[in-house]
Amino acid sequence: MLFDPRPKSNRSELFGRDRELELLHANVDVPLIIITGVRRVGKTSLLSVFLNEVSVPNVMIDLRDLRTNYGLRDLYGLISKAFSSRLEKLYEVLRSISGIRVEGFEVEIKWRGRGSLTLSSLFDALNRRRIIVAFDEAQKLRGPRSQEFLNALAHAYDYDRNVTFILTGSEAGLLYGFLGIDKQSSPLYGRYYYDLRLERFDKNTSLEFLRTGFKELGIRIENEVLEIAVEEFDGIPGWLTFFGNEYFRGNKDIARVKELAINIALEELQNIVKERGRRYALVLKGIAEGITTWSGLRRYLEEKEGTTISSSILYNVVRNLEDMSIIRNYQFLDPVYREAALRI
Ligand SMILES: Nc1ncnc2c1ncn2[C@@H]1O[C@H](COP(=O)(O)OP(=O)(O)OP(=O)(O)O)[C@@H](O)[C@H]1O
Ligand SMILES: [Mg+2]
Repeated sequence: MLFDPRPKSNRSELFGRDRELELLHANVDVPLIIITGVRRVGKTSLLSVFLNEVSVPNVMIDLRDLRTNYGLRDLYGLISKAFSSRLEKLYEVLRSISGIRVEGFEVEIKWRGRGSLTLSSLFDALNRRRIIVAFDEAQKLRGPRSQEFLNALAHAYDYDRNVTFILTGSEAGLLYGFLGIDKQSSPLYGRYYYDLRLERFDKNTSLEFLRTGFKELGIRIENEVLEIAVEEFDGIPGWLTFFGNEYFRGNKDIARVKELAINIALEELQNIVKERGRRYALVLKGIAEGITTWSGLRRYLEEKEGTTISSSILYNVVRNLEDMSIIRNYQFLDPVYREAALRI
């Protein structure tokens, strides 16, 4: 079902991404593939559909819930969960790795002490057979363990020819910055990777997506309503799906659906402010109110706070919001977030 709010895992449910799927198939032998795109554009869906249909055995590690200052135990917890869900296909390989134990339907990984498994030795061991290892929301790997992960990835890139890595990230700037492929100091410096930037749907594709979804559900809906929805949600598949699903469940007032979406976005923005500080709220609000220059923003903040603001601090706030794919050139990348920021 097109309007199912969960990430899709079958091609038949994935709308308008045949080209991207073919590109992934064509590049499956590249050691490193990076998929970026704004929140809700369909990265996880694209990745899951691809992994589901590609003939190479694979595993996807979902890093969404990895906490900021994660430790090895947290990371290995997510890796073991991912392996457990693929046990049927990977049993033989996993069984032979020292530091890993298969207990019933679950995989246990020794993360500390004698005989513990390092990331490098894990990748080396997986390399005995052809495999794809995918990390969803890989910018979450930033933190005190960065170096260890990057070293292991670079080592595997150079020596483990059977392993293809796929990394996705909704915070593109953070992900590229973390990998540091253009930074001489990074272990991954200069490595070639296949870069797939997933774009939102254009207007026609968005309309077609909604029409197809409603038709599938046997719901008749005015063209005019579809046009408004496409306008409001700007071709972002996740919001279009959200709208379709709400409408299907009886919430036919598009203004109310929009309200719900704004509240979801607002909660995300509030989390950023909680984590990074009140100035983020002011910068977001200023940009949402239409300020499009750095000096305008500075004046706005200085007025609101009643203090002068150091230029490096403001520069950092703006750059971080860009790296998190929330704004670019003083514009919101998603109109729903702009509305949310007005209320922050
Ligand atoms: N091409 C598509 N066809 C059908 N549904 C889609 C498509 N792309 C995304 N969706 C739907 O949109 C929502 C968001 O998709 P998904 O979780 O794959 O995006 P994402 O980019 O991984 O989002 P996030 O940044 O939140 O991780 C889900 O409900 C998914 O089912
Ligand atoms: Mg995702």
